Amino acid sequence: MKQLTHYDIKNKQQKFPITIVCDAIRTPENIGMCFRISESFGVEKIYFHKDSPKLNNRKVIKTARNTINQIDYDFYSDFSKIIHQLKEEGNTIIGIEITDKSINIQDFKFENHEKIVLLLGSERNGIEDVKLMDYTIAIPMYGRNSSINVVHSLAITLYEATNQLAVSKNKNIRVSN
Ligand SMILES: C[S@@+](CC[C@H](N)C(=O)[O-])C[C@H]1O[C@@H](n2cnc3c(N)ncnc32)[C@H](O)[C@@H]1O
Repeated sequence: MKQLTHYDIKNKQQKFPITIVCDAIRTPENIGMCFRISESFGVEKIYFHKDSPKLNNRKVIKTARNTINQIDYDFYSDFSKIIHQLKEEGNTIIGIEITDKSINIQDFKFENHEKIVLLLGSERNGIEDVKLMDYTIAIPMYGRNSSINVVHSLAITLYEATNQLAVSKNKNIRVSN
C-alpha cells in the first residue's frame, strides 16, 4: 500500500445542485474552510453576508487553499430577501440547525429535492430566522457540548447529501439503460 500524492489523485469533478448560504459567519477561518469543503463536494454556489470577513483577508486565503476562484460566490445584505429569491428559483431551503423540529440528518431524504440550499447559522446566534426554512436538519452529538463548529456541520451534511445524490443518480442511469 502506498499513500497517493496530490499528483496521483484525479477526482470526478462532479457538480451537485447545492447552494450554501452562510448566515453572517464572522470568523475568517470558517469562511476559508467553507470554500475548501464546498469545492471538494461539488457545491454550485456560496452566498456570504456582505459584512462577513472579506475574501482578501489573509486567514480566509490561507484556509481556503486556492479554492476561492474555483467556486461561484455572491454576497447578500437582506436575509429574508435572499431566502425568498432562492425559493423562487426552485430551491428547497434546508437549515442546518438544532431546532425543536429538526430532522435527524440520516433520516432526511436529500435525493427527493431537485435543488437544495444548505443554510448555516452564525457562530454566535445560529440561523437568524428558522421560520423561513422549509426544513431543519440536525447532526446527532454524543458529547457534552451543545453544538459543533459550523463548518464541521457543513462537512458532515455535504458528505451525507452528496452520497445520497450520487447513489440516486447512478440508480437512474441504470434504470434508463
Ligand atoms: C456554534 S453553532 C451556533 C450556536 C448556537 N446557536 C448556540 O446555542 O449558541 C453555529 C452553527 O453551526 C451549526 N451546527 C452546530 N452544531 C450543529 C448540529 N449538531 N446540528 C446541526 N447544525 C449544527 C448550525 O448551523 C449553527 O447555527
